[in-house]
Amino acid sequence: MTVSGEPGVPRELIKILSKASSIVVLTGSGISAESGVPTFREAQTGLWEKYDPMELATPQAFQNNPKLVWQWYSWRRQLVSQATPNPAHLALVEMQSLFPKFTLITQNVDGLHQRAGSDPVVELHGNILRTKCSIENTIVDNWLGEGHEPPLCPKCGGLLRPDVVWFGESLPEAALAEAIHSTQNCDLFFSIGTSAIVQPAASLPIQALKFGAAVVEINIDQTPLTTQATFFIRGPAGMVLPVILSTASITKHS
Ligand code: OAD
Repeated sequence: MTVSGEPGVPRELIKILSKASSIVVLTGSGISAESGVPTFREAQTGLWEKYDPMELATPQAFQNNPKLVWQWYSWRRQLVSQATPNPAHLALVEMQSLFPKFTLITQNVDGLHQRAGSDPVVELHGNILRTKCSIENTIVDNWLGEGHEPPLCPKCGGLLRPDVVWFGESLPEAALAEAIHSTQNCDLFFSIGTSAIVQPAASLPIQALKFGAAVVEINIDQTPLTTQATFFIRGPAGMVLPVILSTASITKHS
């Protein structure tokens, strides 16, 4: 079922919301678009339209040109630090308190869900605001000496890198296990602002359907998930989610 134009909540979805006790939300870069953080694959504005991920977001790229990779992530880190959570992030914080079980899974590395107040957040692709040692794989909070790009690990002298998942790398095991477990045990799954093509995140809504949950997709455009989703609500997440939130809170409090 597709709903577009003025955001409205389909009657069948209102019923499901009123009964649901376990919710999973998967977000992608589209949820942060209204905060001014660029998405990846959108024509004209997507990062991967302008930059080659093979030169910036692979272990090989870091080995070949660590300075370029570090500088590119520093630029993105600055963009993200200047951004603020938007009504979509804030609506998810409120939604969490309405359901006995609520799992927020994100592919985003921008930390905006946490800054909005969501806790916990299952981060599938890491967090750009964290830095780790490329040799020891441990998180590093402080390092000495300015001027070396990338900076060096204070313990082993190895190059520091952002704590994000690059193409060709595995996802953090615990986060992926939590994402799969919650997906297989939810009543209602939301896929929000993601192109639904990057694996393994893209397989989560499909698994949710297989395990009997209803799937709601919220996006400004269709994706490969759209025809399989139980509901497709077309519109910006910052407009749609506050409407879903007020509907859910009415059904929970009536
Ligand atoms: P994409 O750029 O692939 O997709 C962004 C999606 O958000 C698109 O489907 C847009 O239509 C949608 N969108 C844009 N603005 C929106 C809005 N205001 N409201 C709702 N939807 C909106 O980004 P992701 O799906 O997040 O991985 O990409 C997945 C992964 O690919 C990223 O985590 C990143 C990237 O390579 C890594 O870097 C490992």
